[in-house]
Amino acid sequence: NKQMNIAIDGPAGAGKSTVAKLVAERLSFLYIDTGAMYRALTYAALEEGVDLKDGQSLHKLLSKITISLNHEESRITVLVNQKDVTEEIRSKEVTSNVSLVSSHEQVRVEMVERQRELAKSGNSVLDGRDIGTFVLPNAQLKVFLTASVEERARRRFEEHEAKGIASDFEQLKKEIAKRDELDSTRDFAPLKKAIDAVEIESTKMSIHEVAEKIIKLAKERT
Ligand code: C5P
Repeated sequence: NKQMNIAIDGPAGAGKSTVAKLVAERLSFLYIDTGAMYRALTYAALEEGVDLKDGQSLHKLLSKITISLNHEESRITVLVNQKDVTEEIRSKEVTSNVSLVSSHEQVRVEMVERQRELAKSGNSVLDGRDIGTFVLPNAQLKVFLTASVEERARRRFEEHEAKGIASDFEQLKKEIAKRDELDSTRDFAPLKKAIDAVEIESTKMSIHEVAEKIIKLAKERT
């Protein structure tokens, strides 16, 4: 029985992580949140006062830290050097700096190596920006998940509301558009649909409908 990797890429706020988690649960696959890894490095760099424009210093910091994605029952925690930073990596400060940190080739090369290593451990679902194009070009199933920027901002807004975080819709929309712009225009492994990815435009779909569709596609390919 061959191992299966599912790549889910797409712009910010398209619901990749929620969908990836659902699909992984339903198929009993491992879920690997690659965005959380870039966020963890960004958090560590901010803590250490490393210059976020300096790829070499960031690479040096990365080589000294462990980033673990811990699966405890259905809760996933993110640890940097064994410290739980699950909440911290979702902060505004991390979110607004992560695209800069992840734009450096030296950072990406090391991250991609770690991600490939994790993906080797068994059947897995990875979500990110460059999984289908760069991290796992041979993934059996590649999905490019999109939704209008309005809809993505609306989903993020509701997520925030549910957590009791106050936010401004127009501001969220701007931040999401900005991050997409940075992620898709960087030189090295930018956000891009792989030619062999199935595009799912989810503006009018529920998370469950998207997950169902991906599970169906996965089953057709096993
Ligand atoms: O998926 P998430 O929104 O948590 O990702 C945070 C950021 O990490 C993205 O905006 C992008 O800059 C970076 N990222 C990346 N490549 C990936 C995953 C995330 O560059 N595979």
